[in-house]
Amino acid sequence: MKHERVFSGLQPTGRLHIGNYFGAVRQWIALQDGYDCIYCIVDYHALTTPQDPGTFAQATLDAAIDYLALGLDPRKSTIFVQSHVPEHTELAWIFNTLTPLTELARMTQFKEKAETHQKVVNAGLYTYPTLMAADILLYEGTLVPVGEDQVQHVELTRKIARWFNNRYGKTLPEPKPKLGKSMRIMSLNDPTRKMSKSHGEKAYVALSDNPNTIRRKLQRAVTATLGGNVKDPGVENLFTLLREVSADATVRDFEAAQADGSIKYAELKAQLATDLIDHLAVYRQRRKELAGKPNEVKAILENGRARASVIAKETMGKIREKIGLLR
Ligand code: TYM
Repeated sequence: MKHERVFSGLQPTGRLHIGNYFGAVRQWIALQDGYDCIYCIVDYHALTTPQDPGTFAQATLDAAIDYLALGLDPRKSTIFVQSHVPEHTELAWIFNTLTPLTELARMTQFKEKAETHQKVVNAGLYTYPTLMAADILLYEGTLVPVGEDQVQHVELTRKIARWFNNRYGKTLPEPKPKLGKSMRIMSLNDPTRKMSKSHGEKAYVALSDNPNTIRRKLQRAVTATLGGNVKDPGVENLFTLLREVSADATVRDFEAAQADGSIKYAELKAQLATDLIDHLAVYRQRRKELAGKPNEVKAILENGRARASVIAKETMGKIREKIGLLR
């Protein structure tokens, strides 16, 4: 029975990395069979930091290719691009009128991004969470599979739903975040920070990196920054990844070696590289095929838009009526 609606999304800001995959997309794939799933490529969110107009459309298409190559199935899930459904920004405006500035100012991601992009702290970066709330609530999504860094935004979405309901009468559900076991993959070159493209090439493994690059990047991953402490975050991070891609027996062997101090990190990294490269073999193949069929991918996005649009229009109709906008 499909009773709950799952909604999630990802910004087309460049190549997907293993943090996006193990933190979020792997959960999306697993949820497809039990739920009504809607997965969006949030291009308007990406515009909160500068994007190159010459490559932006291709980056959006590439994100769709990645979704499909990883195993999102358009027969099971609705896959579409945010800017193709104008109700997202329409509802975001309404939410802007309900959301206190103080709540937006508390958002960790805003504070971090405002620091990195000091010259371009625009209003969109600030109101980003109201657009995210609109994404989810337009479809009355109740379950939102994300990595840990997005939990605060989903919590704010719950509040926005509550503020709306309090002012206009019960209309919107309060969605919950859904975290997987790898909710926070850390950067390879600084394992005290979450993996992110903004920390440079050495920080992340992109899903589309070739096997040699994956091997090289993992070999150089920082370990033992705390002087061999067993809780070293770099080592923990490698174990998190190992648990995602390696056989149980392999994980157990390395855990035992870690516990008795005989572990060799070079071996751990080599094993992880081999298993990760294997894990992504099907993805690499499918990605290559899909890249040669952009029109097929666009047709899938068009079908997704058509379905998303029907739901979005219905919700906006209800919302307009509750607010008392003139019809
Ligand atoms: P974005 O594009 O930054 O990231 C996409 C997803 O990947 C997860 N993620 C990670 N998980 C674990 N470890 C990491 N190092 C890591 N880096 C990224 C993120 O938590 C996210 O789940 N605002 C969102 C996009 C969005 C959205 C939505 C999500 C817009 N509207 C509605 C859910 C529902 C974002 O910027 O994600």
